[in-house]
Amino acid sequence: MTSGMSVEVGGTRIAYTLAGAGRPLLFIHGYPLGRSLWRPQVEALASSAVVIAPDLRGHGDSAAPAGEYSMDLLADELHGLLAALKIDQPVVLCGLSMGGYIALAYYRKFSAGVAGLVLAATRVGADSAEGKANRERTAALAVEAGVPAVVDAMLPKMLAPDTYTQNPDLVRQVRDLMLRTSLNGVLGDLAGMRNRPDSTPTLPEIRVPVLIIHGQQDQLIPPGEAQNTLSGVPSATLALIDRAGHLPNLEQPDTFNQAITNFLKSL
Ligand code: MLT
Repeated sequence: MTSGMSVEVGGTRIAYTLAGAGRPLLFIHGYPLGRSLWRPQVEALASSAVVIAPDLRGHGDSAAPAGEYSMDLLADELHGLLAALKIDQPVVLCGLSMGGYIALAYYRKFSAGVAGLVLAATRVGADSAEGKANRERTAALAVEAGVPAVVDAMLPKMLAPDTYTQNPDLVRQVRDLMLRTSLNGVLGDLAGMRNRPDSTPTLPEIRVPVLIIHGQQDQLIPPGEAQNTLSGVPSATLALIDRAGHLPNLEQPDTFNQAITNFLKSL
């Protein structure tokens, strides 16, 4: 089964892709992205899982209310989406970057409904003072110059340096995907990420298997963050992907998908 649909979750219309059969696997995109980030994963993994890939509020085809999008609020909305889709089996969460922040918030709230965690291109710490100041500068840029200015400032860091010369089509696709984030989405995410808690104390509490995936050439979140996460979790494995930056699932989709397939088999 493959479909692109939407459903009302607590008053917010959430668009999603649903495909395949098997164990539920929920993909949570990062900032400022959308569910089409996961196209290579939906295509490859729907033969072994029920793949659910929503647009978070403010992104892609979902509604874009104003206000802060806290990681807890986004986790609640995902939980509401799964309930609306009548998915009651424990789910494997795969979150990339901000999606990883949300996956950890989800685990804190709904651990009984989680079968495994994939933390891709993410970090567990909160924003530093400098990081918070950057969020405020980016929000001011978004208000003054619009979402395209934010996208064009961020795009040169999204991918591995070689990807820009070797795969210009992918660079264009990523830019188009980023441009489908609304102004409310950019502002809501920035405020939510700025105020997110430190997830380090959550790591020793995790009772499900964890797969950490990171691009070796990630310019936004250095691979040392993946090592840091690995050292805090009781049962985790790390897949470092060469020739990949912040979006390893798009830059090296076969390697990324194989890591997830092996993880699903191990559960
Ligand atoms: C993301 O890709 O989700 C963001 O770069 C994460 C962040 O800004 O902290």
